[in-house]
Amino acid sequence: VEQTYIMVKPDGVQRGLVGEIISRFERKGFKLTGLKLFQCPKELAEEHYKDLKTKSFYPTLIDYITSGPVVCMVWEGVGVVASARKLIGSTNPLQAEPGTIRGDLAVQTGRNVVHGSDSPENGKRETALWFKEGELYEWTPAQAPWLME
Ligand code: GTP
Ligand code: MG
Repeated sequence: VEQTYIMVKPDGVQRGLVGEIISRFERKGFKLTGLKLFQCPKELAEEHYKDLKTKSFYPTLIDYITSGPVVCMVWEGVGVVASARKLIGSTNPLQAEPGTIRGDLAVQTGRNVVHGSDSPENGKRETALWFKEGELYEWTPAQAPWLME
């Protein structure tokens, strides 16, 4: 089954938005299989964002992500990667639709409160990057038969 790596960035933690953000994925009906508060080392931030290495904003992006604790999560479900991206909204919060996390809770691209994997492959890659095997849990939510026919 598909999995996505979702992370409340340091601004989301500092602004007290952790519960709000987790709630949106929970209420949608996805399954949480990993969760931790974590201070990201520089090397991990660089590996996570290696595709953006040549961008002008890359150094400030690394500073931003390592500036304080983040909340790391893995969510599972059918179509979870694309659906999570929709729940999160556009990269630039001013362009993100109201009703999305960024549309409702942020104003600037460099402070856009949350990360979500952009493909199922990256969902797997990022999950393996941020979590050890023993930190992930397979379980069956009690609501499962009421969520999927
Ligand atoms: P993530 O879910 O965090 O990966 O965001 P995204 O997939 O919507 O955007 P992308 O992967 O292209 O960029 C990763 C992150 O880099 C963004 O979420 C922003 O935090 C940051 N970023 C992207 N573009 C800019 C920019 O033009 N300026 C600044 N300051 N930050 C940027
Ligand atoms: Mg991205």
